[in-house]
Amino acid sequence: MSSGSPSAAMLTVFSERRSDLVITAREARAEGVISLTLADPHGAQLPAWTPGAHIDLLLDGIVRQYSLCGAPGDQNTWRIAILLAPDGRGGSRKVHQTLKAGSPIAVRGPRNHFPLHAAPRYIFIAGGIGITPILAMIAEAEAAGASWNLLYGGRQRASMAFLDELERYGQDRVTVTPQDEQGQLNLADCLGTSRPGTLVYCCGPEGLLTAVEEACALWPTGTLHIERFAPKAVEVAGEDTGAFELVLQRSGLTLQVPPDQSVFDVVSEAGVSVLGSCFEGVCGTCEQAVIDGDVDHRDSILSDEEREANEYMMICVSRCRSARLTLDL
Ligand code: FES
Repeated sequence: MSSGSPSAAMLTVFSERRSDLVITAREARAEGVISLTLADPHGAQLPAWTPGAHIDLLLDGIVRQYSLCGAPGDQNTWRIAILLAPDGRGGSRKVHQTLKAGSPIAVRGPRNHFPLHAAPRYIFIAGGIGITPILAMIAEAEAAGASWNLLYGGRQRASMAFLDELERYGQDRVTVTPQDEQGQLNLADCLGTSRPGTLVYCCGPEGLLTAVEEACALWPTGTLHIERFAPKAVEVAGEDTGAFELVLQRSGLTLQVPPDQSVFDVVSEAGVSVLGSCFEGVCGTCEQAVIDGDVDHRDSILSDEEREANEYMMICVSRCRSARLTLDL
């Protein structure tokens, strides 16, 4: 989900244990958007997190990821916001229909593969519900004394969450662009000229991400960091990479991965415990360290530099071009 981030240990997992929490508040944030505040039912501290982190909501067989959008570092409560997607796969419908203040909720994480790197200046770009990770990033940038600007676009003003919280930063730093009033975000103005020392963070729908990627094409490598909601169209060289041998070094197992099975499935069937969530190469839950093998990366998370480093892979979608893949598993 990040583009151009450092190659070493790109995914920060703060906690993979399941936490049984309670919803302490449910608030309407915009048309079709609610926020939920979560806390430990006994008042215990929650695992630490940093801006860009998300948690898994475990919803009776459905697992969905939501970015933490409360005050960075708050370990008493977590806040998430959920956009109702009536034609989606059912996760947001379930949240909107069933979760109220007082409801128990099981979560996993937090996990961060969209971390905010230190910089003197940031450009934040958010489309729709993509404002959620950016909210916490803005708070962090503000606390660090960094200079920043936000471009925030949405279909219409009424559907854009957290406008009230952003108001206090002033119009010189926050540009709100409802599409029905002003059209698309003016990316050319803010990204037209490359500015050394500036990092760009963007979260939103695919069309916005693609436009921002194009606009940043001439900026220095490592400038742009993006988070996707859905898998990127992955260019796969050839059709399938065929079968390959899979060595799980720590488990002492050698397995075969046939062309029609994922590494994740083969590992799970062998009885080795691995976590997964989206199974589309978007969430980062299944990331594993690579010891050896030419990985055919098919996820929507790793940057080109991270792929080249060949240190990690998402085993739900990625495969291997060489005859053998060895994982630190
Ligand atoms: Fe989400 Fe693999 S399960 S990236």
